[in-house]
Amino acid sequence: MSRILDGTAVSKAIRAEVASGVASLAARGIVPGLAVVLVGDDPASAVYVASKGTAAREAGITERTLRFPADLPESALLTAVEELNRDDTVDAILVQLPLPKQIDSARILRAIDPRKDADGFHPVNAGLLLQGKPAPVPCTPAGILELLEREGVPLRGTRAVVVGRSDIVGKPMALLLLRRDATVTIAHSKTRDLPGLCREADLLVAAIGRPGFVTGDFVKEGAVLVDVGINRVTSRADVERFFPGDAKRRAAFDRNGSTLVGDCDPATAFPRASRYTPVPGGVGPLTIALLLRNTLELCRGRRLVAPSE
Ligand code: GUN
Repeated sequence: MSRILDGTAVSKAIRAEVASGVASLAARGIVPGLAVVLVGDDPASAVYVASKGTAAREAGITERTLRFPADLPESALLTAVEELNRDDTVDAILVQLPLPKQIDSARILRAIDPRKDADGFHPVNAGLLLQGKPAPVPCTPAGILELLEREGVPLRGTRAVVVGRSDIVGKPMALLLLRRDATVTIAHSKTRDLPGLCREADLLVAAIGRPGFVTGDFVKEGAVLVDVGINRVTSRADVERFFPGDAKRRAAFDRNGSTLVGDCDPATAFPRASRYTPVPGGVGPLTIALLLRNTLELCRGRRLVAPSE
C-alpha cells in the first residue's frame, strides 16, 4: 500500500516553529523583514509571490513585495537590489524567477548580499552548501529533506536518484542527500536508460518539469517517490490518462478547465511506491515554509551576532 508523505502537515509544523521563533525575536524588539521582488506579469509567479507574502505575515514577518514592469532594464533591478541590501529592516531578499530575458538572472542573484539571500542562490552560499558548511539552502530541496526526516524515511546508505539538474532543485537536492549519507546519482534528459537507472533507486526525486514523465516502469516496487513537479494540464485526454476513474478530479477539471499534475504519473508510478508526495499537497507547501525559516535564520544571523564578529 502506498502512503502519502504529507507536505501540508509538515509545512504547518515548520510554520508554527517559525512563528514561535519570530515571537521570541519580537520580544527583544526585532522583527524579521522579507523583501520579495517580482518583475513582469507571469501569472504563476504572481500566485507564488502572493502566497509567500501571506505566509510571511501569518508568521509575524514583515513582508514587502516590490513589483516592476516586464520591460524593466537590468540596471534598474540592480539598483533596487542594492537598496534592499542597504536597508537594515530587510533581512531576506527573494527575487522571483524566471526573470524577463533582457535581465541576466545570474548577475542579479550575485548582487544580493549573501547574508540576505533568502533562496540560497548566491554563488557564495551555493559553494558553502557544496562544502557542507552552514548557509541558507534553496527552499524546495531543504523542504524535501525536512519532510523525509520528519516522516522517518531512512537516508543513510540508501540509493537516491535525482532526476533534474537545476540550480534551484536538482543540484542542491543531491548535495543535501549526500550530506545525509545517501549514495546519490543526478540523472537528466541525456541519461542513457533513464528508466533502468531510476529503477535502482530506493529514493527517487523527480524534478524535470514534464507532466507525468516518471511512469511506473521508472519505479522500483516499494521505493520512496518525491514529486517536485507542478504542471497545469488543460486537455481532457491528459486527465483521463493521469486520473482514470477519478470522478472528483474530472469534476474539478470540468469546473476549472485545468488540473495540476506533477512530474510523476499518478496512475502508474504512485501505486508502486511505498510512500510518495502527492500533487498538490506534497512538496509545494514546504517551499514556502522553508522560505520563512530561511528568513528567520538570516535575521538571527545578521542581528544577533556581536558587532565584533
Ligand atoms: N521560481 C520557482 N521556484 C523558485 C524559488 O524557489 N525561488 C525563486 N526566487 N524563484 C522561483
